[in-house]
Formats: sequence, structure tokens, C-alpha cells
Amino acid sequence: MRVDVFFQAGEPAALDIVERSVVVIDVLRATSTIVEALVNGARGVYPAASTEEAMKLASSLGREDTLLCGESKGRMIEGFDLGNSPSEFVAERVADKRLVMSTTNGTPAFLLAEDADRVLACCFMNLGAVVDTIATAESLVVVCAGRDGRFSADDAVCAGTLLTRLRARGDGRLDLNDAGNAALELANTIQVDADFLATTDGGKSLVDIGFRADLVHCAQVDRYAVVPEMEDRVIRLPEPTRVGG
Ligand code: MLT
Repeated sequence: MRVDVFFQAGEPAALDIVERSVVVIDVLRATSTIVEALVNGARGVYPAASTEEAMKLASSLGREDTLLCGESKGRMIEGFDLGNSPSEFVAERVADKRLVMSTTNGTPAFLLAEDADRVLACCFMNLGAVVDTIATAESLVVVCAGRDGRFSADDAVCAGTLLTRLRARGDGRLDLNDAGNAALELANTIQVDADFLATTDGGKSLVDIGFRADLVHCAQVDRYAVVPEMEDRVIRLPEPTRVGG
């Protein structure tokens, strides 16, 4: 399997993703929150490139069953219904709702990948399910959302763990780009837990503003067997695996 890893979302060119499956990773916290929201019955997540775009989209969808979600500098945006902590996305709040979401790096990463054949959401919480889904692909792109256009160790370790598991499958042969080889090496040296996430730039920022509990939440490996997938700019669970709602 050919796998190209990119350490930040703006890196891949259109040619890198077209007719390929793309796995988007934003461990802290967009893909973790998207997984949690969909498991808890949200109808779909509509990624937006900015706060303004999210507000326009929510109005056009109809505010009755649509929630505005996301963060700016880690905190909930004024006038929004929810922030970007996975623990906020409980069934009581999100079941049967459409979630329009705007985050700094994660939701733009989905939109940048929209011309791919498939776009899947990955984090530590659904890692095994993503591996099961892509194990037979011939060609794969892993996009780390990164942080403000920079490398993010939490996303890179998640990408590397994904590759480690893929390599353990099938014939075990992966044809990797340099970033893929680096991600594999990195993942081999790291124990995934909240303490590791707290050493990352994104993790430190979240701890500073009082969100350490989110690191514990996002460090749960294989908590859920679901693979959210984006189609026509909406991220959903495929029907048979949908839980709740
Ligand atoms: C992002 O998209 O950059 C993250 O979701 C940021 C955060 O969770 O604060």
C-alpha cells in the first residue's frame, strides 16, 4: 500500500489527494469531538472554514435543529451553542442535531480534502476501526491537521500508530513517504496517554485554559468502533454503525 503522510493540512496538493482515500487526524480536538458527537447521535457534522461561514451555514440549514459548535483559541465562540470539548457532546445535547462546526485547524482540514475519493475522520478513540476500514486500500493519504500550519506531535503519533497497525496487517508492506517513515519512528517511541498529550504544544495550550480533562478523553485508544466519513461536505457515520439518534 502506498501511503503519503502530511504533517499539516495545507501541505498536500490537489494531485496528492484526487482519487485517493484521505484520513484526517486532529487529535486535539476536532476529530475526537466529531467522533464523540456522532457516536452520541448527532445527525451530521458540517465543517466550516471560519466562524462567519459557520454562522451563515447554520442560518441556511435552519437554527431549530442545528447547533453551532467550535472554538477560537480553544474556547467556545461567543454566540455558539457548544465549544470543542468532546465531553460537551453528550446525547442530551447533540442527538438528532445537525452540528455546524468551526475549529482552527480541524474543520478547514476536512474542507481542503473534499476532492478526495473518500475522506475519513480519525483520532485515537476510533483508530482500530479506521485501520479495519482502510486495510485493503491501495493508496492512502494521511493528513494531520497540525497547528496553525505547523507540525503537531499528537497528530503525528496518531498517524504513526495507524501505520504501525496497518503494517501488521496483510502482507505488511507499506510504501511510505519521508513523513510516513518519520511518523512510524515517532509512534514507536511514545506511550499514548494524557501525559504524552500534555507535552504537546496543543495539549499545553488546552491545559493552560483549563481543559486537561479533554486530554484524558482524547487519549482513549479504540474507545469506539466507528468511522465518520465526509460526503458532500457533511461528516456522518455510515448507517449500519450509527449509534443512538
Ligand atoms: C483545531 O481544530 O485546531 C482544534 O480543534 C483546536 C482546539 O481544540 O482547541
